[in-house]
Amino acid sequence: MVGKICGTGSCVPEHILDNEALSGMVDTNDAWIRERTGVVRRHIIEKETTVSMAAEAGRRALEDGGVLPEEVDLLIVSTFTSEILLPCAACEVQKELGAVHAACFDLNAACTGFLFAYHTAQAYIAAGICKTVLLIGSESLSNMVNWQDRGTCILFGDGAGAAVLRAQPGTPQIAVMHSDGNAGDALTMYSRHRKDWVESEKDYIRMDGRAVFGFAVKKVPEVIREVLEKNKMTLEEIDYFILHQANRRIVESAARHLGIGIEKFPMNLQEYGNTSSASIPLLLDEWNRSGNVKPGQTILLAGFGAGLSWGAAVFTW
Ligand code: ACO
Repeated sequence: MVGKICGTGSCVPEHILDNEALSGMVDTNDAWIRERTGVVRRHIIEKETTVSMAAEAGRRALEDGGVLPEEVDLLIVSTFTSEILLPCAACEVQKELGAVHAACFDLNAACTGFLFAYHTAQAYIAAGICKTVLLIGSESLSNMVNWQDRGTCILFGDGAGAAVLRAQPGTPQIAVMHSDGNAGDALTMYSRHRKDWVESEKDYIRMDGRAVFGFAVKKVPEVIREVLEKNKMTLEEIDYFILHQANRRIVESAARHLGIGIEKFPMNLQEYGNTSSASIPLLLDEWNRSGNVKPGQTILLAGFGAGLSWGAAVFTW
């Protein structure tokens, strides 16, 4: 059996923080942010939470797919930014949606989390454990960044994206997932729940931007070629490459290295910034709702993030 995406949804906070407003908070400017990242504005939670956005994105995905909440038998939320640690965000979402028959858990693989959750869902479906899976990436990065650190706070935004998968006869494409804990220091955030806690910069996202940039421009084209090779497919068969929305220059570099026109690489990071594990399903939902993705087209997802971690998936819409 294979899990086929039959519905998508998303939810972003109402409040918008544009580059101009951000320039009043930290030493930066609109021109620099646009040129170095492509980000123009980001949505920031006020009354919303990681769980409320996840539930709304999940509700919209179920509606889009014509799936009842009671039909969901696995609910995975990819997040590292939930405001509550116990119960897991997925159980809170279950409660909101009435997905009473779902087994629920959270998964943290940072920005690669949605991809890892997608592969997890496919494995559960292929093993015959589940038939209907709701996958959600939801992040409130604005709670995690140091708003005085211009190397990180300009990049991130809040939001959620979701996809619902139904089992149907077939074989899933071969999954590609990688992690390198030895390189993990490039992107860290420590828990405030530690015995020797004294507030420090460790309590916020800390990033060696150049190291992560170098890693991403190398690994993204590499992992795209790997997933295609493993599935005996070619670059030309792909209609759209939905990449993690971290930086426009990373997406453009991947397109250039692969020799594929940038029009096959949709982007929405100008509107939302980097929403971590929400970025891929958020873009997938926009692409779906705008009617850009047609049945029978082939989509490739690729992402990277803290861990370090990276991965890719390919499927037919
Ligand atoms: N505004 C104005 N100037 C700035 C800013 C800013 N926000 N940030 C840095 N600068 C300055 C620096 O001080 C430096 O000045 P100098 O030349 O006088 O020393 C200059 O701009 C260049 O700084 P760099 O850090 O080299 O800038 P770079 O071009 O590398 O861009 C950036 C920084 C945007 C962070 C980039 O490295 C990047 O996008 N890295 C990847 C980040 C990423 O994708 N993270 C994914 C996270 S995924 C997850 O798991 C959460």
